[in-house]
Amino acid sequence: MKFFIDTANLQEIQEAYDLGVLDGVTTNPSLMAKEGIKGKNNILKHYRSICDIVGDGDVSAEVIATDFEGMVREGEELADIHETIVVKVPMIRDGVKAIKYFSDKGIRTNCTLIFSSGQALLAAKAGASFVSPFVGRLDDISTDGIELISQISDIFTNYDFETEILAASIRHPMHIIKCAELGADVATCPLSVILSLLNHPLTDSGLKKFLSDYEKMKG
Ligand code: G3P
Repeated sequence: MKFFIDTANLQEIQEAYDLGVLDGVTTNPSLMAKEGIKGKNNILKHYRSICDIVGDGDVSAEVIATDFEGMVREGEELADIHETIVVKVPMIRDGVKAIKYFSDKGIRTNCTLIFSSGQALLAAKAGASFVSPFVGRLDDISTDGIELISQISDIFTNYDFETEILAASIRHPMHIIKCAELGADVATCPLSVILSLLNHPLTDSGLKKFLSDYEKMKG
């Protein structure tokens, strides 16, 4: 399972990279705005800085346009920044057209805002490299987000789609574990959620005991 970090914060990305388990980054307009980045040139520059940190890792950069021509124009500009850029396209009618266009041109895409298996199927048919089902946001409205991962996984397996399942809106460690059990290719989440996988009280108490026993062995 690949771990992507869901942030546009360079310090957090660097920290995740330094941990040695980072496979990529996903961003969205809300996350970019949170970093206070303004203006097209600064946005493109910021994406380049992200790419520089993650090396070979994929970096999802989202288009803002919602019409086909606009998405194509923005997507080509984003793809030009770096070979690791994956153009993030919303699950709307023109988005599906744009995914097909990019796919034919060899530009990789991540279809975002996926909330149903039908949407995932459509994106995969159009040639999306990734689909991003939003697990946490479905849970927020009393719908089982993990169940959606299971459905998409079954469908993609039935037809050997190469599209990767990128579980997004991942909010806690059990989301990661459940997605891993179901074979999701990627989980994207904040660094804090990745770090929460570290924790177990028996690890803490066990280490404490080892260290106190070691003290007894010192001459
Ligand atoms: O990658 C999508 C993600 O940013 C959404 O997460 O927590 O805002 O639902 P959240």
